Amino acid sequence: MILSIESSCDDSSIAITKIENNELIFHKKISQEKEHACYGGVVPELASRLHAIDLPNILEETKPYFSELKAVAVTNQPGLSVTLLEGIAMAKTIAITKKIPLLAVHHLKGHIYSLFIEREEILPLLVLLISGGHTQVIRVESLEKMTILATSIDDSVGESFDKTAKMMGLGYPGGPIIEQLALKGNENAFDLPIPLRNSPLLAFSLSGLKNAVRLAIESVGGAENMTEQNRCDIAASFQKAVKLHLLQKSKKIFAAEPIQNFAIVGGASANIYIRKAYEKLCKEYGKTLHTAPLEFCSDNAAMIGRYAVEAYKQELFTDPYKIDVVHTKKRQSGTLL
Ligand code: KG4
Ligand code: ZN
Repeated sequence: MILSIESSCDDSSIAITKIENNELIFHKKISQEKEHACYGGVVPELASRLHAIDLPNILEETKPYFSELKAVAVTNQPGLSVTLLEGIAMAKTIAITKKIPLLAVHHLKGHIYSLFIEREEILPLLVLLISGGHTQVIRVESLEKMTILATSIDDSVGESFDKTAKMMGLGYPGGPIIEQLALKGNENAFDLPIPLRNSPLLAFSLSGLKNAVRLAIESVGGAENMTEQNRCDIAASFQKAVKLHLLQKSKKIFAAEPIQNFAIVGGASANIYIRKAYEKLCKEYGKTLHTAPLEFCSDNAAMIGRYAVEAYKQELFTDPYKIDVVHTKKRQSGTLL
């Protein structure tokens, strides 16, 4: 069995995965959303203090499996340094004291492997990753051969949902709030611009749309004076613009990439409106759409454990005395390291 730890942002999570059949034996996650909600985003120092309390509490529950552990895995990039360090400190202590191998896992590769929790890998695969930190299209050929084909030049999809909610004085995380409001809104009420619509650039951009949302809010009297219907209409119009932007760039990639299997992963892939749009697009282009179960879209240790099973088989081990946080450039292009 492999014990995996995730603490890259505001979720403390530990999982135990069986190596021989990918079975998820144990999985627990404690989210800090409530603690960060009043700030409209994650406060790194507070997140790190909460991991220091929650991770040991979860670890205690995994004691019955300790004698069967063959390896320990931990997210070491990308993420907040101070929160990643909490998971890393725990993982290396376990690896050194139990004399078992340590696996350092790239968080985004973990999101990709959320697709394969309790099932076999499907490769090659084209992936749209939409999370709070990233918006990328990645060609996945193997554990180590993952190529970024398109990335965001500014905000990520999740971030744009969070900021839209924040500008309207709503809570955090904004994704589920905006999705729910949009169900009661008219998506044609506000004519928001579709980012990079006339640009040949194979990239994503959401900061311009964020500004347009800000102006739309001002046009109805600001966050304090707007009606509930205004909120729903802005949420729906914003969500529609995000969808059209993602679809437009995805179509270009579909036309250039013959890979049959396509997947959407990451926190924002839990959005049913976006999922439905991709179901339609994939049908049109003859692609097979894959998504992770809703509970594994946002950050969790089960996805880290699932990646670690494959990395363990290939002996991609890390020295526990040398493991550290890897600082990844946000707008990284090329290979996902
Ligand atoms: O993957 P994730 O848990 O963390 C990162 O790796 O960043 O993604 C969190 C992001 C947040 O920005 C959150 O607002 C967004 O995912 N999110 C959603 C939905 N549920 C979560 N965005 C849009 N629609 C949703 N239903
Ligand atoms: Zn994530």
